Amino acid sequence: MLKHSEQLELPIADPYFFLPRMVIDHLERIEKLSSRHPVNVLVTGKQGCGKSTLVRQFAAHYNRPMSTFQVGLLSEPGQLFGDERLRNGETFYQEFLFPKAITTPKCVIHLEEINRPEHPKALNELYSVLSEDRSIWIDELGLVKVAEGVVFFASLNEGAEFTGLDPLDAALQDRFYTIQMEYLPWEAEKQVLMLKAGVSEEQADNILRVVTALRENPQQSVAVSTRHSLMIAELMAVGAGLKESTIFSLQVSKDALESVLVSLHFELGDFSGSSDTYELF
Ligand SMILES: Nc1ncnc2c1ncn2[C@@H]1O[C@H](COP(=O)(O)OP(=O)(O)OP(=O)(O)O)[C@@H](O)[C@H]1O
Ligand SMILES: [Mg+2]
Repeated sequence: MLKHSEQLELPIADPYFFLPRMVIDHLERIEKLSSRHPVNVLVTGKQGCGKSTLVRQFAAHYNRPMSTFQVGLLSEPGQLFGDERLRNGETFYQEFLFPKAITTPKCVIHLEEINRPEHPKALNELYSVLSEDRSIWIDELGLVKVAEGVVFFASLNEGAEFTGLDPLDAALQDRFYTIQMEYLPWEAEKQVLMLKAGVSEEQADNILRVVTALRENPQQSVAVSTRHSLMIAELMAVGAGLKESTIFSLQVSKDALESVLVSLHFELGDFSGSSDTYELF
């Protein structure tokens, strides 16, 4: 039988994760605060802007075990704690990882998509562990108490905020510190592309010229996440040209992309790869 802490992951630090100084300082204060009482932090931001990585990095940096739960998948109350199972014709209660995680001292608990449970009542039991009493009675388990030093991170994709209609939403939100993640500024994103994907400085600058033009395109702004710019860089690192890397990474039409490239004075003739000739694969 594994001990609880052995089932929980000790994440490995991302050596190339950039955050604003202010956020790094804030995380240090969260670490200190958590020795007084458990703390809740809500991380908001667009898709692929580093929310999950921030949570992992916090756990790795402070050497904490970590566990992630998809709140968006919860379809009925009670689902986080355990359920009835059948073995050799007899039913027994199978305890899940969530009660183990919250009773593990210093555990980092990442609640993904907290705004989108499939069943609205599924948040009720979370509410108990996130609010001041920090404990919940589960018939099969008894009183489950949040351990010392636990930090809850909830993440939320921007644009999909709490509805505000359900009083539970407001009450939940009231109990969180908030970190708003933004996409990185040019120089930092350039470092990420060079360090993580291994592209040259010139390649990174070119990717960012295209990506920035797409993000700022007045006609039809394309949300290009850091994850996406990294995907483009990775394709280039294995030999693809800028145009094909972009086409295969983003859902952007060839025409829209070509007009962006032309407006940036890239020579289209330089781009390899043709979609006009068909060959056997
Ligand atoms: N600030 C950053 N520094 C370095 N890498 C970053 C940064 N932000 C994002 N990345 C990289 O971009 C990718 C996506 O990041 P991550 O999965 O953390 O985003 P997310 O906000 O959780 O996305 P989603 O909204 O899809 O859950 C990862 O490979 C991550 O390492
Ligand atoms: Mg994520």
